[in-house]
Amino acid sequence: MFVHRAVDVPSPELLHVLQSLEGEPIITAKSLAPHIAANVDFLDEATASMAPTPSPSTNARLAVPLLLQLVRDWSEEGEEVRSQSYARLIAPLRPFRAPRVLLPGSGLGRLAFDIVVAHAGAHVVAVEADAASHVIAAHLMTPAECTHAGRTIYPAIHLGPNWASASHRLRGVRVPDVSREMLLHVQETGNISLVVGSFPDALPHLASDEMGRAFDAVVTSFFIDVPVDTLGMLRAIRAALTPQGGVWVNFGPLAFPQEYAEDGVRAFPLPYAQLRHLILYAGFRFLAEESHPCEYNRVPEWLERTTRTCYFFVAEPLSEPKYSKTF
Ligand SMILES: C[S@@+](CC[C@H](N)C(=O)[O-])C[C@H]1O[C@@H](n2cnc3c(N)ncnc32)[C@H](O)[C@@H]1O
Repeated sequence: MFVHRAVDVPSPELLHVLQSLEGEPIITAKSLAPHIAANVDFLDEATASMAPTPSPSTNARLAVPLLLQLVRDWSEEGEEVRSQSYARLIAPLRPFRAPRVLLPGSGLGRLAFDIVVAHAGAHVVAVEADAASHVIAAHLMTPAECTHAGRTIYPAIHLGPNWASASHRLRGVRVPDVSREMLLHVQETGNISLVVGSFPDALPHLASDEMGRAFDAVVTSFFIDVPVDTLGMLRAIRAALTPQGGVWVNFGPLAFPQEYAEDGVRAFPLPYAQLRHLILYAGFRFLAEESHPCEYNRVPEWLERTTRTCYFFVAEPLSEPKYSKTF
């Protein structure tokens, strides 16, 4: 449960000594109860449409990553991390008017939203395997549902060690950091279709005329090291792109996280040299390639920060791919 994940209990003697230190709150289950309640309320409200499926708030292993992801995607405190990654992905779409964009692994949806903010008229198809992420994204982006503008959540309370002061751990984060007017503007000027399911299986029409070759851009953010079938993913990205000027824009690490393994099997952890060979093999030509240090989730004041080297590239589909097999 939530509470148990949040609180380590000091011994009575430790508690006694610490109580004499001025200005430092002692974190106990009791003192955290209002913060935990705020997190639970937010998640329950945002996922109410999933009922009778239990809210992610009933399981810390689901709830804590979502709360951290909310900082990344929908708080002012996530702005710097977003500028290191999302801004790079959005810029190459500039030449397109009202681009049709496919966004696999869209998480809590901020990148889809920011694409429409930057490119009026954009149509973004955002595909996300995790139903709770999908529902929270939809909730946050729907002006009529999003009644909690300026609600405060407390993701940091669930992170035990690595603080300079206990007060930092109690710091709240306001979500969402966009106004109702901006939500309405995006709703009126663009089109975001949220598809819940696994890419590419959730889009079986990619291989057909109906949907295949329909997208001006495929945008992948912290995603290409996630699907177990790397070649299948590359073929699907290529099949999605229009051969006339379509581009694939990527930014992310090569971490191949175990958390997205299927039946305990994760994608083969490719080094960049091998991944890029597969990308060429799948029928792409690189237009730009760079690497940059980047963080993923940064929690305000937390002493633990992880910076990874991330690969940015823009690639276009060749008219004749080197492979013959369809995915
Ligand atoms: C590392 S997160 C990145 C999320 C987002 N793109 C970002 O930059 O914050 C990877 C996301 O991909 C989703 N995911 C994993 N496998 C997927 C698949 N096969 N199809 C679609 N989404 C998937 C996960 O649920 C998660 O939200």
